[in-house]
Amino acid sequence: MSPARLLVTGGSGHLGGEVVRRADGAGWEVTGTSYRTPGPARVDVRDAGAVEALFADAAPDCVIHTAYLQDGPDAWATNVDGSANVAAAAAARGARLIHVSTDLVFDGRAGRPYTETDEPNPLLEYGRSKAAAETAVAERHPNAAMVRTSLIYGGEGLSGHERRILDVVDGRADLAFFIDELRCPVHVADLADALLALAGTAYAGPLHLAGADGVSRYEMACLVATANGRETAHLRTTTSAGIVPERPRDCRLDCSRAAALLGVRLPGIREILGN
Ligand SMILES: NC(=O)c1ccc[n+]([C@@H]2O[C@H](COP(=O)([O-])OP(=O)(O)OC[C@H]3O[C@@H](n4cnc5c(N)ncnc54)[C@H](OP(=O)(O)O)[C@@H]3O)[C@@H](O)[C@H]2O)c1
Repeated sequence: MSPARLLVTGGSGHLGGEVVRRADGAGWEVTGTSYRTPGPARVDVRDAGAVEALFADAAPDCVIHTAYLQDGPDAWATNVDGSANVAAAAAARGARLIHVSTDLVFDGRAGRPYTETDEPNPLLEYGRSKAAAETAVAERHPNAAMVRTSLIYGGEGLSGHERRILDVVDGRADLAFFIDELRCPVHVADLADALLALAGTAYAGPLHLAGADGVSRYEMACLVATANGRETAHLRTTTSAGIVPERPRDCRLDCSRAAALLGVRLPGIREILGN
């Protein structure tokens, strides 16, 4: 039997690259795309015709859509129109779609971890674009799974979050870390494996997939610094009180639905990096 074909958008990125590597090892026939990075499958997801051509070429049975931009003038179109184009192409082919979203679709005011039944109410432009992307994807591909995750770290090389923390501890940057902003950081390998496990199910709709520990930005910085052999004494703390626009403070995710569905609990950052 020939292996199932998997298309990973954003295959040149941190999460997408890890998904490509792990899917390869798990027997999928994988196409990973890039945009600015040179490679065999470059595509701009904002270009509907280019996305259709990509799908005709890769003929995927399943798509894991990770491509996005965090900010900048192209972010809204990349995140919303790009996701809509990928969802429409996947639906037209009858391909399974796993769309990667974020905990920042929530406002962080609930004071408890968010479940899949909570309503998005993003406070920041990035979260607004990802919430709009979820809506656009659901309209075009009602059977898509919408995975909301949190700060991604680890894997081959360092994530942007880890690089920033080490820049601060090594004196290349000056930044204080929030003690009142809680997230559930997730190791990129654990997330990639969970996405591939989800690909083998028919689950549709939002699903929360993040690490088990809710930690502040400051605690994450201390864990990353220590794990990389640095001192934490000089890390400065701050709070997000008074910052305009308001930042989402507590975006911890309740991942019990994913744990029941996939039979996995993604380890927390304290377990992975702590002593
Ligand atoms: N990073 C986090 O902590 C975090 C937290 C929560 C959710 N997420 C979600 O996780 C997903 C992956 O994040 P990541 O950190 O792995 O991303 P990343 O490393 O920044 O990679 C982004 C990818 O998107 C591609 N891309 C950018 N613009 C594109 C366009 N117009 N057309 C096609 N591809 C384009 C990039 O290609 P080139 O580099 O080749 O240009 C790259 O492969 C995103 O959906 C994000 O919302 C991330």
